[in-house]
Amino acid sequence: KKDLTIGMLGFGTVGSGVATMIRDNEKELTQRLGVKVKIGKIVVRDMEKERGTYVDHGVLCSNVSDVIHDPDIDVVVEVMGGIEEAKYAIQESLKAGKPVITANKDLMAIHGHSLLRLAHENSCDLYYEASVAGGIPIIRTLEDGLASDRISGIMGIVNGTTNYILTKMKEEKWSYEEALTKAQELGFAESDPTSDVEGLDAARKMAILATLAFSMEVHLEDVSVEGMTAISTEDLELAEQFGYSVKMLGFAQRDEDGIDVSVEPVFLASSHPLSSVRNEYNAVYIYGDAVGETMFYGPGAGSMPTATSVVSDILAACRNLLLGVGGKRSHNPMNSRHLKGEDH
Ligand code: NAP
Ligand code: HSE
Repeated sequence: KKDLTIGMLGFGTVGSGVATMIRDNEKELTQRLGVKVKIGKIVVRDMEKERGTYVDHGVLCSNVSDVIHDPDIDVVVEVMGGIEEAKYAIQESLKAGKPVITANKDLMAIHGHSLLRLAHENSCDLYYEASVAGGIPIIRTLEDGLASDRISGIMGIVNGTTNYILTKMKEEKWSYEEALTKAQELGFAESDPTSDVEGLDAARKMAILATLAFSMEVHLEDVSVEGMTAISTEDLELAEQFGYSVKMLGFAQRDEDGIDVSVEPVFLASSHPLSSVRNEYNAVYIYGDAVGETMFYGPGAGSMPTATSVVSDILAACRNLLLGVGGKRSHNPMNSRHLKGEDH
C-alpha cells in the first residue's frame, strides 16, 4: 500500500497543530493505519510569513486549486475558515473523489446539509469533528455512541473564548477587553471575535449538534441568540454573592411541542457542574431517554486539542479510503428532515 498524502488548506492555529501532530505521532499513526500519512501540500494566504521550523517551505502554495486538483492528494483538510472559498474547495474535492476533513463550523452550520449530501452522492467522507467543542469527540458521540437512544436535550458550554473571558473577568478581575485580547493571542477566538462574544459561534455549534441529535435539519436561523458583551465584572461579583456563576450556555430541547435551540448568558447555581468549567474548556450534557444524563468535558479551542479531532478524522477518512467504504457513515444525511413545519 502506498503512503496517503494530505493536502491542507490553511496553516494557522489549527493547521499548524495538525502538522505538528502528524510529525510527532508518526509512529502511532502509521501503526494504527498500516500506511504512512504525510502532508504533501499546504495552502496559505501569505507565502512570506514566518512559519517556524516544523514545516518544509517546499510544501507551501497559495492557490486552493493546487491542492484540490492535484491527483497525488488523497485527502483534503480544510482549516482556513471562511465560507465561499472553503465551500468551493470542499465541493470540488468531494466531486474529485477526495475525502474532506473540516473544522469549519461557520460553513457546516450553513451548508453542512448540502455538503454532507454531496459527500454521500460521491461515496466520499466529510468529517467535521473539530467544528464543535474542539478536542471533545462530541460529533462521534451523537453519530455513533448514543445513536441508539432518543435524545431529548443538550445543554452546554460550546464556546471557549467566552468561557475564557468570563473566567478571567471573575477570577482575575480582568476587564472584558483584556480577557478578549488574551483569548485572541492564545488562538481561541475567531478571526472576527464578534461571532464568539455575540453568541453566533455557539449558535452554529448548537445547530450542528441539534441536527445530529434530532435527525432534523436545524439551521442557524432556527437558533435564538443573545451575546455576552453587556456583562460586567460587577455582574459576575453580584452573581457570586448570591451563589451563582454566569455562563454562556447553549440549549437544544425536544418535547411534544417541537424543538427549541438557543444560546444565551445565564445565571447558574455555583454548585452546578457546568459552573466549574473554566477558561477555554467546554462541557456538553446530553440527555437521552434510555441513557439518562451524560456529560462530556474537555478543551474547546486551541491548536493541539483541535488538531486531535482533525487528525482523528484524518485517520477515519484514510481507513475508509483504504477499505473502499468512503461515504458510508452511520449518520445518513439523506434521512434528516427539515425542522420548519415538521415536529413530533
Ligand atoms: P487562523 O489561525 O486564522 O488560520 C487560517 C489559515 O488559513 C492561515 O494559515 C491563513 O493563511 C489561511 N487562509 C485563510 N484564508 C485563506 C485563503 N483565502 N486562501 C489561502 N489560505 C487562507 O485560523 P484557525 O484558528 O486555525 O481556524 C481555522 C478554522 O478552524 C476556522 O474555520 C475555525 O473556525 C476553526 N476552528 C478553530 C479553532 C481554534 O481553536 N482556533 C477550534 C476549532 C475550529 P496565512 O497563514 O497566510 O494567513
Ligand atoms: N472560537 C472558538 C471558540 C474556537 O472559542 O470556541 C473553537 O471552535
